[in-house]
Amino acid sequence: MAVDLGIDLGTASTRIYSRREKRLIANAPTVAAIKDGEIAAAGEKALEMIGKTNASLNVIEPVKDGAITNFDAAVGLLKELLTGGLASAFTKVRAAVCVPSGIGDVERRAVEEVAISAGVKDVYLIESPLAGAIGAGIDINEPKGYVIADVGAGTTEAAVVSLGGVVVSKSVKVGGKSLDNDIIQTIKKKYNVEIAATTAEKVKLRLASALPSLSTDIVEAKGKDMYSGVPKTVSISSNELNNAIRDSVSRIVETIRSVLEETPPELSADLLETGIILTGGGSALRGLGKLLKSATGINVFMAEDAVTVNAKGAAMALGSKSGLRSALLNTAARKTY
Ligand SMILES: Nc1ncnc2c1ncn2[C@@H]1O[C@H](COP(=O)(O)OP(=O)(O)OP(=O)(O)O)[C@@H](O)[C@H]1O
Ligand SMILES: [Mg+2]
Repeated sequence: MAVDLGIDLGTASTRIYSRREKRLIANAPTVAAIKDGEIAAAGEKALEMIGKTNASLNVIEPVKDGAITNFDAAVGLLKELLTGGLASAFTKVRAAVCVPSGIGDVERRAVEEVAISAGVKDVYLIESPLAGAIGAGIDINEPKGYVIADVGAGTTEAAVVSLGGVVVSKSVKVGGKSLDNDIIQTIKKKYNVEIAATTAEKVKLRLASALPSLSTDIVEAKGKDMYSGVPKTVSISSNELNNAIRDSVSRIVETIRSVLEETPPELSADLLETGIILTGGGSALRGLGKLLKSATGINVFMAEDAVTVNAKGAAMALGSKSGLRSALLNTAARKTY
């Protein structure tokens, strides 16, 4: 049996969408634990091991900004997710894998190799903004411009898409993880307390906003006193959080704004009507849409299932009758067994 899949290897999460089943068959942290050269755990189980390992166990996050940074861990993770998500190990897998717009040949090759080594028989690549646009329900072959802005964990990638291609794209290595890091640094500086990245993310999700807020809410964060070394809890206000993330948020907004500046005037006019479509987990940050609208003067929409659209769009592009095949970057890379 053959199956068509869309694969989105994100910095934080890996998602696999099945074209036929019209759903994600895997959605897991992009983390693998390696022990004695073998995969000991992948996804959620491996994520729980971060920072708690012993010498013989290595916990690896194998994808950074859309590029593979650890081949074996990436293959191990993908293999686990494919076997976990597919009904049968004998299924012939054809997959389109999302890659950043303008990715180099070496990185492209690495992504193809990872997919093939993980058991994919036919591998295609698709630029993330095109996949995201298709997944968000846009007819990419129309002579109409759309802005797709993917605020991920490691990267923000903004692009103008029209007539089945990427017209302009910009990316910056700032995303949700940068905000977590800002919060860690602020708490370290102000309170001499070190908190874990997972704690910083929780605090962000509870209270952080892209816009100054009138809220007087506070949130508690447990960490470790940098001088005494003992566990300590600090209380942080929403204002402190918003100030902490302000510079990174500005860089995200600036990146999205800069694609508009480089858009040809013929398409610029369209953008007033079509607006900016936000995808990716980081796009759910409170106030981001509003801030972006005031910075650009253009309507901002949040894609439905913002974290699924890339994998979904990639899977949809594989449909032979869909008219979307041209979105794929290459003919399939094959390996004969
Ligand atoms: N409600 C929310 N508010 C703010 N940030 C959020 C929210 N929900 C998720 N995030 C952030 O979104 C990020 C994950 O987004 P996503 O899953 O799109 O990343 P990714 O695809 O793995 O990364 P990348 O695309 O950069 O490689 C995390 O940093 C997470 O904290
Ligand atoms: Mg992503």
